[in-house]
Amino acid sequence: MTQSVTDTAPAQPGPTKTILRALAGETQAVPPVWMMRQAGRYLPEYKATRAKAGDFLSLCYTPELAAEVTLQPLRRYGFDAAILFADILLIGQALGSKLWFAEGEGPRMSTVTDRAAVAALRPAQDVHEVLAPIYETLRILTRELPRDTTLIGFAGAPWTVATYMTAGRGTPDQGPAHAFKDRDREGFSSLIDLLTEASIEYLSAQINAGAEVVKIFDSWAGSLKGADFDDFALKPAATIIAALKARHPGIPVIAFPREAGDRYIGFARATGADCVALDNSVSADWAAKNVQVDGCVQGNLAPRYLVEGGDGLISETRRIVQAFAKGPHIFNLGHGITPDANPENVHRMLEAIRG
Ligand code: CP3
Repeated sequence: MTQSVTDTAPAQPGPTKTILRALAGETQAVPPVWMMRQAGRYLPEYKATRAKAGDFLSLCYTPELAAEVTLQPLRRYGFDAAILFADILLIGQALGSKLWFAEGEGPRMSTVTDRAAVAALRPAQDVHEVLAPIYETLRILTRELPRDTTLIGFAGAPWTVATYMTAGRGTPDQGPAHAFKDRDREGFSSLIDLLTEASIEYLSAQINAGAEVVKIFDSWAGSLKGADFDDFALKPAATIIAALKARHPGIPVIAFPREAGDRYIGFARATGADCVALDNSVSADWAAKNVQVDGCVQGNLAPRYLVEGGDGLISETRRIVQAFAKGPHIFNLGHGITPDANPENVHRMLEAIRG
């Protein structure tokens, strides 16, 4: 007598990697940990590889070197996750905007300020040609990562990428994007829709290349209020997450609506995100009560503690671990580690988390 495979197959085991367990909703005695911008200028080995690449964009688009800088912080610290080394603005370039990094100043782009300029961009399905080296970086990493390390892919959220594409640079108040939105809401929405579709394409290809989790960075979500937050932060995230989950059942998604304040409440439920990353403007105690009730949270040590070190670093790290101890938590910073951070302080932070 033959039995069908499904009759004899054992129940699907849960994930074994610490990050995936947290994202599946498991509370762990020691939270898994990684850091935003963990490959970056505070590390001498990063600066050396970046010098070898020549400039930041060449580093992003050279898979062997991008994989190398992704691995550097893992060798030093043994984080639970690796985040793909790339940048959120590459997708703008893949859509046809010009992108360059002014040394010591930050990103610069050609500007998209009206619907004619949006219409002149490439269709979402055409982003893969420019982004192919990014997928190759992920394929290298799937071979070279330690077995217990989770590989995270990412994209910028449509709103945040749009703020750079409209202004052509970083801005303190995202003024040009707000101006485009307020002048021609439909035209601006067409840019958000294009970026939403392109992000689905990009993240889906990252998952096919080996990303086990993806994160959506909405660094400027905090400047959207009311219906603008709904239309340009919440809905695009929900659309991207629904499409990814349809194409890749079970893929966990982390959303980072930075400085969303009260809008962190219910964000996971409204978007389908498996985890909400918290910036350090909200207190861990508040977030445990209001956000962690819906599932996993990530965060939220202020990056300045890794510059200052000392007792403040230890007590603040322990306080955050304690505040989130009753639910699923991935320890992280509230924003990227800064170039002036002391690499030794990262060891002290890990010691305070792992004991
Ligand atoms: O977290 C990681 O280590 C993964 C790689 C990564 C980078 N940027 C590398 C990078 C990720 C996930 C990003 C995201 C990113 N990029 C965001 C969203 C997160 C955030 O920080 O709010 C934004 C807004 C950008 C755009 C960007 N890239 C800016 C504004 C800058 C200049 C500011 C700066 O820190 O210099 C970058 C450059 C950049 N991206 C660097 C790195 C390591 C520094 C470049 C260098 O080596 O000179």
